[in-house]
Amino acid sequence: MSKSKLICTDLDGTFIGDDDSMYELLQLIDGKNILLVFDTGRHLPSVMGFVQEKGIRIPDASICMVGTEIFVRGDDGELVLDSEWSDIISDSWQRNKIVELLGNVQGLTIQDEEWQTKFKASYFLRENVDDVLREVDQRMQKTGLKATAIHSAGAFLDFLPIKSGKAKATDYLAKKFGVPKEHVVACGDSGNDLDLFEAGFKGIIVGNAHSELSNFRGPGAYHATGEYSAGIIEGLRHFDFL
Ligand code: GLC
Ligand code: MG
Repeated sequence: MSKSKLICTDLDGTFIGDDDSMYELLQLIDGKNILLVFDTGRHLPSVMGFVQEKGIRIPDASICMVGTEIFVRGDDGELVLDSEWSDIISDSWQRNKIVELLGNVQGLTIQDEEWQTKFKASYFLRENVDDVLREVDQRMQKTGLKATAIHSAGAFLDFLPIKSGKAKATDYLAKKFGVPKEHVVACGDSGNDLDLFEAGFKGIIVGNAHSELSNFRGPGAYHATGEYSAGIIEGLRHFDFL
């Protein structure tokens, strides 16, 4: 499957939020030499529920659970787990130890089982954010456990293997699809998208982005005025993708 460009978009707050623009965006890229990849904190059943509810096409790939799972569309059109990615990210990852270590941190509440996987430990973090983050950081440093911690939308804290995350998964997929980095546009609205903008892809920060992302400045990051998918369309035009 060799296509010359790749759009990698977050779902909630980015691709999702304004249906009219979302359908317009899909129409604009339809039939063009562009791969569509979702890059989301959701799990696959939730992504597929959304695809079916909106009656849109299955993407060429979906990076799920904040870059810890990759599904690629197979010949029969179904999204299939890329187990090679699971092998790559398992390096240095000790989920049980992290969960044990953080079990009694005040202000940190573990999310439902549904959002936990072998490669992702997720919490809610809504109050005293700075204090809690400091406490978490101190504990992690003391034990020397390795993980990437991602704080998003003022409410979530995810722990992921150091080799995973949205950007690393996107990089892996782009290579797999044979798309050069400069032909990848990443789109996002919150903290779990930040690594995409630091990784050197072209990037679209939608107009409704949270401050953790709207304050980001870096080469290749385009700050759209338009919100949700309207912001994506605006950015794609800026990058001459359409
Ligand atoms: C999604 C996931 C949640 C995660 C959050 C931030 O909402 O469901 O588990 O913490 O994204 O990445
Ligand atoms: Mg989002």
